[in-house]
Amino acid sequence: MSSIKVAILGFGTVGEGVYKTINTHKAKLEAVLGRKVEVAAILIKNKYKNRGIDKETLVTDDFNEILKLKKIDVVVEAIVGQEPAFTYIQRAIQKGCHIITANKEMYAIHGRFLQKLAAENNVSIGFEATVAGGVPIIQTLQQLLNINHIVKIEGILNGTSNYILSEMRARNLSFNEALKSAQEKGYAEANPTNDIEGYDAFYKLMILSEIAFGGKPKWENVPREGITAITAEQIQEVEKIGLRFKLIASIQLVEGEIIGSVRPTLVSEQHPLYNIEGVENSVSIEGDIVGRITLQGPGAGMLPTASAMVEDLIHVLVGGKKTNDLYQKSFVGTEEDKKIKQC
Ligand code: HSE
Repeated sequence: MSSIKVAILGFGTVGEGVYKTINTHKAKLEAVLGRKVEVAAILIKNKYKNRGIDKETLVTDDFNEILKLKKIDVVVEAIVGQEPAFTYIQRAIQKGCHIITANKEMYAIHGRFLQKLAAENNVSIGFEATVAGGVPIIQTLQQLLNINHIVKIEGILNGTSNYILSEMRARNLSFNEALKSAQEKGYAEANPTNDIEGYDAFYKLMILSEIAFGGKPKWENVPREGITAITAEQIQEVEKIGLRFKLIASIQLVEGEIIGSVRPTLVSEQHPLYNIEGVENSVSIEGDIVGRITLQGPGAGMLPTASAMVEDLIHVLVGGKKTNDLYQKSFVGTEEDKKIKQC
């Protein structure tokens, strides 16, 4: 049986993480999908830079070369910003490729259009990695929506800014030292303005709004503020009286209107976000039936983001079908374990 062919667009932290994960988890992927997964092509800016990529993989700086390949089943888009990502994705969809993206700016703006285009071309788009890194927030929200009306979503949606605030508080680092450390760890975007000025959290909030409420508020009506005005002195001062700064993103339905905001907020020890430190994201969803549930986990970084994207790879290929059969195929253990699991 032929293998599933994947093209990765962009080989920064996210693209490299997907490449590594597909290679380190080959057996697991084959067990779940019933076919091998092969990275057939990678689009990079400098194709002459040695990056330890397999010789069989086409490494190119020309997207047309990738589209000329005989059959790419899935395009994993890990580029930053609207263009050229939006153009490449449209062309890939029209060629019949499934899409997986981590690009929140592009998806917050063009997500609805792309989903329509994908439906017309009988392919799927996975976008779990656009929000909250490795935390399966999109899938959870979609599942809750089977019966719930969503009332409110609130939380920390940007790992970099939470990491910076935590490092400034706990290790007494300056803003610039903490930002540099976030960049070295691969948390921050190529241009960290989006992280520290609240745009990244804003785009993620708009993506959640579209799913939860079927639409977005007018962007100019959503107050957005980052963390750049917060000084190290302020952080240490409020710490003495038991308060911490958190960049909180919030969206809710108020009398039929979608109201959102992204802003730094002082929280006390009793607040559920007080102890969310480092690169962690934490998101609470309030549904009319389920009540309030909270998901927490790594909101950025190479492997957490790759985990979300490779989970999407499986979803787009099996149509989100979680059959017993799929669970049994994915099971790796002894025959004895299997009997227990099946009971
Ligand atoms: N720069 C983003 C963050 C990456 O720090 O949250 C994950 O979306």
